[in-house]
Amino acid sequence: MDTYITTPIFYVNAQPHLGHAFTTIVADTYCRYRRLCGDEVMFQTGTDEHGEKIVQAAQGAGVSPREYVDRISLMFRETWPLLAIKPDNFIRTTDPVHIKTVQDILQKVYNQGDIYFSEYSGLYCRGCERFLTEKELVDGKCPDHQVAPEPITEQNYFFRMSKYQQWLIDHINNHPEFITPERYRNEVLSFLKEPLEDLCISRPTSRLTWGIPLPFDDRFVTYVWFDALINYLTGIGYPGGENFSRYWAVAEHIIAKDILKPHAIYWPTMLCSIGLVPYKKLHVHGYWNIGETKMSKSLGNVVRPAEMVEAYGADTVRYFLLREMSFGLDSGYSADALLIRQNSDLANDLGNLFSRSLTMVAKFAGSRVPAAGTPTEIDRELRDAAMTMIDTYRREMDHFAFNRALAAVWEVISRANKYIVENAPWDLAKDADKRERLDTVFYYLLETLRLISLTIEPVMPATAVKMRQALGLGHEPDLTTQATWGLLAPQSVITLPEALFPRLDTGKKKKTGPAQAGDKPLKTMTPTENPEDENLISFDEFKKIDLRVAEIVAAEKIKKSDRLLKLTVMAPEERTIVAGIAEFYEPEQVVGKQVIIVANLKPTKLMGIASHGMVLAIKDKGSLSLSAVSSQVTPGSKVS
Ligand code: MSP
Repeated sequence: MDTYITTPIFYVNAQPHLGHAFTTIVADTYCRYRRLCGDEVMFQTGTDEHGEKIVQAAQGAGVSPREYVDRISLMFRETWPLLAIKPDNFIRTTDPVHIKTVQDILQKVYNQGDIYFSEYSGLYCRGCERFLTEKELVDGKCPDHQVAPEPITEQNYFFRMSKYQQWLIDHINNHPEFITPERYRNEVLSFLKEPLEDLCISRPTSRLTWGIPLPFDDRFVTYVWFDALINYLTGIGYPGGENFSRYWAVAEHIIAKDILKPHAIYWPTMLCSIGLVPYKKLHVHGYWNIGETKMSKSLGNVVRPAEMVEAYGADTVRYFLLREMSFGLDSGYSADALLIRQNSDLANDLGNLFSRSLTMVAKFAGSRVPAAGTPTEIDRELRDAAMTMIDTYRREMDHFAFNRALAAVWEVISRANKYIVENAPWDLAKDADKRERLDTVFYYLLETLRLISLTIEPVMPATAVKMRQALGLGHEPDLTTQATWGLLAPQSVITLPEALFPRLDTGKKKKTGPAQAGDKPLKTMTPTENPEDENLISFDEFKKIDLRVAEIVAAEKIKKSDRLLKLTVMAPEERTIVAGIAEFYEPEQVVGKQVIIVANLKPTKLMGIASHGMVLAIKDKGSLSLSAVSSQVTPGSKVS
C-alpha cells in the first residue's frame, strides 16, 4: 500500500524546538513503521517562509527576509538528521515551483468564481496569521499567543469557503477516520454548526510584500494559509507529476491542535474547490507544555532538540517523546521524566535484558544460537506473550497510539527479565544434564529479543540496528515476513554488544558502569539504620515485633531506583517487600534465599510500590549481607 505522510511546514521566524521535533518524529516513526509493514511511503516536511512575522523576525535579526529564511530553513533541515528523521522531501514555500503551483491554483479558483473582492473588518492575530472569531478568544486574547488580536478593516480577496460547508459536514460524517482522534473530529463538527464565513486569502502589498503575488491582481499577495497548505500538493508534483497521481489520495497529515481549523476546514474546502478529493486522514496531537503553558517560540519557553540529542542521544529522545505523550492529549515536558525513562525503561529493562541474555549465551553456549529442546509451559508462555505483543503493537501503531504500542513491548521485556530469574540459567549451566533446558531457555530469550528488535525499529532505529547486528541478523527488518516465532537459525553466531544505553546519574553525567557502592550514601532498611539510638526497649516492646522467616520467590529491579529491589516473598503468605539492597545484590542472586523479615511493619510505599515488611540485613564496612537462617525452615516460621 502507498502512503503519503506530511508534517506542517514550520514557520521560519524562530529555530526548531521540541514541539516541531515531536510532530516530525511522529511522522518519521509512522513512515518507518509503514515501511516495516511493506508499504511504499513518501514523507514530506519543510518550512513556511512567507508572511508578516517572518519579515518582522528578519528585521529583528538585521538581515533581508531572503537571507533570514535561508538561514532558519537550513537549521530545520539540519536538525532532522540529528534525530534520525529522514524525510523524502523538504519543501520550502519560497521554492519557485511552489510559487507557480500556488499561482496556478489561485487563478483556477478565481476563474471558476470561488474568489471575490470585498471589504472586511475583523480581529486579526499576527501569531496565527488569521482573523479570529470572538468565540475563539479567552479573556479577549488569542489563547495560543496570549495577545489581544488587532481590529483590522481592509479590502481583500476572499475564498467562498461557506459554499462548501455542507459538503464538508457530509464528508466528515461519512468518513469517521477523516479527523482523528475523535475529540478533534467532534470539535470541528461542533464548529461547523455555526455558519462558516468566507476566508480572507490576500494581503495588500502596501502592508506586506513578502508573499506570493496574486496572479489576477498584483497589488496583493496571497494570505499565508492559501500559500502554505498548497505545499502538500506541490511536494508531490501537482498537477501532472507521477507522485501526485500515486500519493494524493493516500495523504495523511500530522499536525498539533493549534492548526486544526486551517487543516480541517480551510484545506478540504480549498481542495473541493480545486476539484480534488480531500486528503485521506488528519492526525491531530496535543501540546508539549512547560508547566501549564504550551511550549512555544513566542512564549520563549522552548527546549532545543539538538541539545536534547547531545545529552541523551536520538533514540532516547524519540522513545521518551513517543512513550510519554498520549496522542491527542497534552503532555508536560520535564528533564527528570526523561532521565527516568532513560535509566529505567532503556538502561535497566531493555539494556539489561539484552546484555545479560547475550552475555550468558556467550559464556554458556559459545556465542552460538542453540537449538531449542522441548518447550515447557513457561517457554510457551513467553512465546505467546511475544506473539501477542506483535499483534497489540501493530494495532496500536496503526492508530497512532505509540505510547500503548511501546507499553506492550515493555510488558514483554519485563516478562523476559522475569523469565531469566525464573529459569536461573546460571544454575542450569552447572548441571550437564540440564543442557537441553538451558538451550531452550536461551533460544526463547534470543527469539524474544529478535521480535523486540523488530518492534522498536521505527522508534529507535539505531538501537534496533545494534540489536540486530548482535543477534547476527543479516536482512533488513520486515514485519510481514519476520514476525513469526522460530526464525532465528540455530548455530548462527551472536556477538557481544556494548551497552545499548548508558545509565545517567541524576546530575545527567554519563556513567559507564553499574552503580558503585559509595556513589550515594546507602540508606538501607535495616534496624541498624539508627545506630545512635541508645534507648533500650522492654521485653514486651520487643514482643510486639513480628519477626519471621521469609523465602524470596521473585526479585526485580525497580524503575527509577538504583538501590531498591522489589521482592516477592512467602512468609507464609505471599507479600511484596521493597528492600534497599540493589547495590549489593542482583535480583537473580536473592531468589530462593530465606531471610528474616519484620512482618508487622506498617505498609509503606517506596517508588510507588507498597512494601509489606522489612528484610533484615547486616551492614558491615560498606558492604551489605542479607540476614539468613542456618538451615532451611518452613517459610513464615517465627523468629524469637
Ligand atoms: N506554518 C504553519 C503551518 C503550516 S502547514 C500548512 C505553522 N507553523 S509553526 O511553526 O507554528 O508550527 C506549528 C506546528 O509545530 C504544530 O502544529 C505542531 O506540529 C508543532 N508544534 C509547535 N509547538 C508545539 C508544542 N508545544 N507541542 C506540540 N507541537 C508543537 O503553524
